[in-house]
Amino acid sequence: MMSSILTTSVAALSLFGLAAQAADSSNSTPAAVFTYISPNSQYNDTTFVFALNVDKETSDVYIHMSAPSGNDWMGVGIGAQMKNSLMFVAYASVNGTGMTLSPRISTGNSEPSYYTGISCSLVYAGDLPNGNVHSNGNDATMTINAVCKNATHWPQGSLDVTSTNQPFIFGVGPGEPGGSYLQSNDLSAGLRRHEAYGTFFMDMTKATSTSSSTAGVPRPDASGAYTNSGATLGTAKADNDFAPAIHAFIMCLMFVIVFPLGALILRVFNRVILHAWVQGLGLLLVTMATAGGIVISTQYNRSKNFASAHQIIGILLILAMFSQLGLGIVHHRLFKKSQQPTIMGKIHRYLGPATILFGIINAPIGFVFAGNPHLCLPYIVIVLLIAIIYITVRFGSRICCRGRRKNQDARLGRQGAMPAGPEGYMQPDFGPSAGYGQPSYMQPPPAYARSTSYGSQSEDVPLRPYQSQQSGMGGPPADPRPMV
Ligand code: HEM
Ligand SMILES: *[C@@H]1O[C@H](CO)[C@@H](O)[C@H](O)[C@H]1NC(C)=O
Ligand SMILES: *[C@@H]1O[C@H](CO)[C@@H](O)[C@H](O)[C@H]1NC(C)=O
Ligand SMILES: *[C@@H]1O[C@H](CO)[C@@H](O)[C@H](O)[C@H]1NC(C)=O
Repeated sequence: MMSSILTTSVAALSLFGLAAQAADSSNSTPAAVFTYISPNSQYNDTTFVFALNVDKETSDVYIHMSAPSGNDWMGVGIGAQMKNSLMFVAYASVNGTGMTLSPRISTGNSEPSYYTGISCSLVYAGDLPNGNVHSNGNDATMTINAVCKNATHWPQGSLDVTSTNQPFIFGVGPGEPGGSYLQSNDLSAGLRRHEAYGTFFMDMTKATSTSSSTAGVPRPDASGAYTNSGATLGTAKADNDFAPAIHAFIMCLMFVIVFPLGALILRVFNRVILHAWVQGLGLLLVTMATAGGIVISTQYNRSKNFASAHQIIGILLILAMFSQLGLGIVHHRLFKKSQQPTIMGKIHRYLGPATILFGIINAPIGFVFAGNPHLCLPYIVIVLLIAIIYITVRFGSRICCRGRRKNQDARLGRQGAMPAGPEGYMQPDFGPSAGYGQPSYMQPPPAYARSTSYGSQSEDVPLRPYQSQQSGMGGPPADPRPMV
């Protein structure tokens, strides 16, 4: 009798082996299931699922988790807040279709770091649908089924298996236009800050197996889906972090437009004081955007040590720019007194363009650093367009408009006013040439004659004509100093 029953059941097992086992597990594994359906109705499936079973005997934690694959990563953490929470973060593996699961701990509201003290492995079984797969396309999802060994205690916290209201956090990473997403087998892979996050609570008495025989990855219900049970939603929030975008926008605007404009104001339009105001305003905004960059840096493992190229170049640039401010002011004051070039003026003149150039280059380095390499191409196109405009204004005026400017100056009686840029100081401009009727241009004004030595490398320019119009055309002015 006994033996016949045994024989029958062994035969049955050998026939339906896997299915029988799975059905057993499905029926007997206690689990709490949290589901969150995003109100974003643009897509059909925007459900976040987290199902949990804990083996009280071994402290092994079994999890099933899935989220739309439009998100870079999905994660759940044990605890009420990021700080000290043990998080299970999953993202596509390097081939783009498998999954990587990384246990992590965070010290605050910042990117969690891989925690080596707990090991997790993916679980494969026929009755776990779409397990450990990152599918692509519309309505695609990523799913993991996994076990994390001995994971109810970690140095900063623990999971209370007797609690009926154990808090958890969840979050999903941002998506990227163009459908590219994080693909890595690295358990320390860099994450970008969440697009949405929230909290939920689980009744752990519903999720805990008292014996290992009933423990396992929670199975879906008869319809093949996971439905919310033993879990309640706390909060769910979209995370609108504008700081990186503002940082990038201000920096690009300053280095690509404002600082070059400030340079043109001096070089082409000879407005020293306006030049100082524009560059000073630019420096103020860059300083604020740098402060923002420093705050952002503290959030990510890749940036919190300030050792990346983007950050080092940025810090050197801000130092260079404050030097520019000091050099410019000191040079200007000395020049007003002596009308002589200074070494500070010379440094200012070369450090300025170098700073702008490195600032322009640092932007795409930053895009790549922040995980937004797709911004590089549009940026480069804009920079090239602006470079063409800049070169046209900077050098075009010197080629095309020299004569006109001079005639205009002469007409306005601005005998001291100079043609565009440092080139204007060059001798031939003051020599006799066809088209100028005014005798004042036959000879260089005395002040310039004195300082021909600084000719083509003027670091500074007097802003106004000399005061004394009445001192006579070409005659020595009563007060040889420029007004500013
Ligand atoms: C690159 C990775 C991450 C960064 C930089 C980051 C950063 C932050 C920041 C700055 C906040 C405060 C937001 C605010 O004040 O509005 C925050 C909150 C939060 N994050 Fe994260 N986070 C990251 C990863 C994660 C992960 C993996 C999860 C879930 C597993 C998560 C869950 C939460 C939750 C639930 C909150 C609100 C509760 C709290 O303040 O701790 N975060 N995070
Ligand atoms: C949603 O589902 C419908 C029917 O299955 C399908 O036609 C539609 O393309 C889906 N929408 C998206 C955004 O995938
Ligand atoms: C991708 O990698 C996963 C492991 O991460 C593996 O299970 C899967 O078979 C791989 N898929 C392909 C198409 O190579
Ligand atoms: C489980 O982890 C705890 C610390 O979190 C440790 O003390 C204990 O020895 C571990 N047990 C096993 C079986 O590894």
